[in-house]
Amino acid sequence: MCGIVGYIGERQAVPILLNGLKRLEYRGYDSAGVAVLHNGVISVKRRAGKLRILIEDIEQEPLPGTVGIGHTRWATHGEPIDRNAHPHVNPVRTIAVVHNGIVENFLPLREELESEGVRFQSDTDTEVIVHLIDRFVAAGRPLVEATREALRILKGSNAIVVLSALEPDKLITARLGNAGGIVIGFGEDGEMFVASDLPAILEHTRRVAFLEPGQMAVVTRNGARIFTLEGEEVPVQVTTVPWDISAAEKGAYKHFMLKEIHEQPRALMDTIAGRVDVRTGEIAFSTLPLSKDFARRLKKIHMTACGTAYHTTLVGKVLIERLARIPVETMIASEFRYADPIIDEDMVVLAVSQSGETADTLAAMHEGKHRGATLWAIVNVIGSQAMRMADGYISMQVGPEISVASTKAYTAPLVDLYMLAILLADLRGRLTPQQRKELVGHLQYLPGWVEQVLAREEEVYRVARKYMRMKNALYLGRGINMATAYEGALKLKEISYIHAEGYPAGEMKHGPIALLDEDMPVIAVVPQDPWYEKMISQVEQAKSRGAPVIAVATEGDERIAEVADEVFWIPEVPWMLTPVVAIVPLQLFAYYIAAELGLDVDQPRNLAKSVTVE
Ligand code: M6R
Repeated sequence: MCGIVGYIGERQAVPILLNGLKRLEYRGYDSAGVAVLHNGVISVKRRAGKLRILIEDIEQEPLPGTVGIGHTRWATHGEPIDRNAHPHVNPVRTIAVVHNGIVENFLPLREELESEGVRFQSDTDTEVIVHLIDRFVAAGRPLVEATREALRILKGSNAIVVLSALEPDKLITARLGNAGGIVIGFGEDGEMFVASDLPAILEHTRRVAFLEPGQMAVVTRNGARIFTLEGEEVPVQVTTVPWDISAAEKGAYKHFMLKEIHEQPRALMDTIAGRVDVRTGEIAFSTLPLSKDFARRLKKIHMTACGTAYHTTLVGKVLIERLARIPVETMIASEFRYADPIIDEDMVVLAVSQSGETADTLAAMHEGKHRGATLWAIVNVIGSQAMRMADGYISMQVGPEISVASTKAYTAPLVDLYMLAILLADLRGRLTPQQRKELVGHLQYLPGWVEQVLAREEEVYRVARKYMRMKNALYLGRGINMATAYEGALKLKEISYIHAEGYPAGEMKHGPIALLDEDMPVIAVVPQDPWYEKMISQVEQAKSRGAPVIAVATEGDERIAEVADEVFWIPEVPWMLTPVVAIVPLQLFAYYIAAELGLDVDQPRNLAKSVTVE
């Protein structure tokens, strides 16, 4: 959940590190720090609070040096105060470490080190790593070996970068388990980069190599060598990533979230492009090879994910079951591995993850693999762990998503699941060529339908202003749009801190109806889908209990216009695609409420973009 960046080259390191940290601030933002090596001395600056506090500090007192490491933190051990911010150093300041993850055996290690006379300067688990490396260096080991020895003692998933004044010509980086990735960037003219995520280094290079769990690297100005934790050298595979830096910049938008909401038509086009042929209705995913035989043998799909990504699986279930008639079970990833799921080799475990690094999702994938299932993943971040672990994957193709609140990485996988459902149905002989062509044909209009919703942004803004002081909201949906209600509520609560619940509308009468009064707005997702009639009656019930109703409904729907207080209109779209379009006004609604309340939309409190701890 923390952001890591490292630089070694001929330029001044600090501006490069701070720029990288700015692009990673979405990963963690309760404190930040840098360590730079100059004339054999490591200088460190660490500050609690937002990155700009550190930047202002460094402007007052610059740190020279051409090799350094930086970190932006999401606290796990120790409150977010200066002394707990990274980098952490040994007492004589010859070794500095930045860290992402959790050292699970930190307490016994700390006790052991303290009994040897080590004095800790912070409350973090990270500091044990520094002292362990220090211990092995003091025993005469070169830095790479000392780091390896230290890593062998640690339990848990951890990613680190080490800087040492004793070996100033290198950075050591390592990855244990799934605590976020490490990417090594190959620059021009004798400079190299290390980071937890691509956006930190994209402005310098697109030539990168990813560390696998259990690997470490020695990075010098001239390149990198990668080793296993046992010391065996492995070939470095350099790939060129297709993203460019403009995709990770805000441009004219006030917040990344608003930019990313507006990027959805483009993102949908990109996720459809190259996968479908609208003239014939054919679908193929080059990274998810799928035979007729396998599709027909498939007994069940277990879908698993967290948060917003989990909501996509609820839509996926409806689509795959309706079209392909394959039973689908959805399970929140943090529950998956403890549920003793019934899985065999004729089943698929399909994980959805924007980051591809979410610890719970990766653990669920491991569980699926261990039980013999074929692993599929829908992921956005190129080179992520989920992408590499899967037997086949679909990339979301939405470019970097920076805002913690996920938007384009919600709608794109809905479309990926729609295409997957059609493909499976086709391979299983459940569609006539005409039906397939019709279903696929709708996709070409989808970006335009989303554009039409975005064109009504002003209306959403007006309603958001009207309701921005509400304390609670109940989001209702049914069938394929139950997930739209869940997702709309999640968007509101995570960025505006207003309590919002997503509920299956039919369940309202079994409890939540007791909450309804004029202070409990009901946001009802009522597009033209097979559940429409049922939804209308629920809206009427809410209205008759005095609750203000904001509806998401299909243009021209006079019944809803009569009963609802406000309506976010969406164009008429085939019902299987309604979740893609109906969520857009709810994303805007949450956004404008949080923005008008003056909240930090892109970096809401207590959250981080990739949740790499359990
Ligand atoms: O990277 P992932 O898609 O695996 O992340 C899963 C959730 O942490 C994520 O969707 C989270 O719920 C977002 N903040 C929602 O906006």
